[in-house]
Amino acid sequence: MEKIYLDYNATTPLDSTVYEKILESLKIHWANPSSTYNSGEIANKAIENARKQIGDMINCESQEIIFTSGGTESNFMVINSIAEQFNKPTIITSNIEHPSIENPLKKLEKDGRINVIFAPVCKYGFVEPQTIKDLLTPEVKLVTIMLANNETGIIQPISEIAQVLEDYQKEHNLKDKILFHTDAAQAIGKIPVDVKKLRVDYLTIVGHKFYGPRIGAIFFNKNYPLKPIFLGGGQERNYRSGTENTAMIVGLGQAALIVKENVFGFYNHLLEVRDYFEKLLLESDFKININGKNDFSERIPNTCNFSFIGKESTGLNILFQCPQVETGLGAACHVQTREISSVSQVLLNSHIPEEIARNAMRVSMGRSTTKSEVKKVADLFFEAVKQLELLLEEDSEPESVPFPKEEKEEKEEKERKKEKKKKKEKRRSKKGIKANKE
Ligand SMILES: Cc1ncc(COP(=O)(O)O)c(C=O)c1O
Repeated sequence: MEKIYLDYNATTPLDSTVYEKILESLKIHWANPSSTYNSGEIANKAIENARKQIGDMINCESQEIIFTSGGTESNFMVINSIAEQFNKPTIITSNIEHPSIENPLKKLEKDGRINVIFAPVCKYGFVEPQTIKDLLTPEVKLVTIMLANNETGIIQPISEIAQVLEDYQKEHNLKDKILFHTDAAQAIGKIPVDVKKLRVDYLTIVGHKFYGPRIGAIFFNKNYPLKPIFLGGGQERNYRSGTENTAMIVGLGQAALIVKENVFGFYNHLLEVRDYFEKLLLESDFKININGKNDFSERIPNTCNFSFIGKESTGLNILFQCPQVETGLGAACHVQTREISSVSQVLLNSHIPEEIARNAMRVSMGRSTTKSEVKKVADLFFEAVKQLELLLEEDSEPESVPFPKEEKEEKEEKERKKEKKKKKEKRRSKKGIKANKE
């Protein structure tokens, strides 16, 4: 059975040129980049070249890039830096952030080291700059808002929020700048990302979301604090100790180069395929809600979060019926801890009604996704929903009205019913459908 992968927000494969660069680097850059002899210097040069490629992708200086193990570390590094730099600072974030933002903030607050404010998103799924403005106090030292949400794809108004922060600082004559971080994990490679246009002080970069390796980086404005999490050999100018993962860094640089050169082409292709898929959904005979699509929100071009309306048409039931489609219900990282019947808090916080959010599933397209693939997927989903509706009809068939019978006849009738029920359960479990627990 040929699989169709539509979960590119969870992760992407390596671009073939990235793969080649990594292999080559493993062969020729194996020396320790801190070593002062020639092989070490060659490895070090390769790292500096990658740093420049990443800086070029987001329009910053090489020296403003530090390599990390991934998005989780980059996000933690920013939050931890502010907690260490200031005395019990207040940090504002949104109520739709990735767990790698939400969880460290909650932990640091529990430990009494920071105060956290979770700004609600508006009914269209983004944080309104006015909401941030209303929450600002002189104690706020950091605002961290993601650039694009991983579940709905909704792009947040980052540069407008930056303006609000600057105005507040001026109006209140604050000596400390209100620092601004954005987690750009889901935006890079899909839309142009420029730290100067966004006007952020920190930005999180995650390689495996844009056909690069599973490492990351952080952009930081060198005028503002960045505190190391690990203490050790002082690599990365003391910001991030640990012998550099040279080959992966080289691969990340190559992935960044490809994005810089092709992002507009990627954007157009993703948009065309995603919009075609949504057209198929909306023009079908089924009742479908596209979660997060509205006239007031911008979305990254590859993401479609949607729900079939109907008691049995949950994302989970549909995906059980379509094993050839590789996609998920929402965030991949939640799945291991997710209760089968749980509803995405991000969707609920984005004002998607619970009965719709409960059925949600997410498809996210990649650079090689074609219209014919998404057409196939849409047809598979439609067929699955038809089957689920049939089952629902069978379930709700009225029981026959009892009428007086001889004792023997009654017993036989009971046996027949029992047998029918057993058969129905067997059919359901063969199709892998969980009984609705409501
Ligand atoms: C928005 C966002 N931020 C951060 C991360 C964390 O990245 P990683 O799991 O690679 O550390 C992800 C990954 O799914 C993400 O989608």
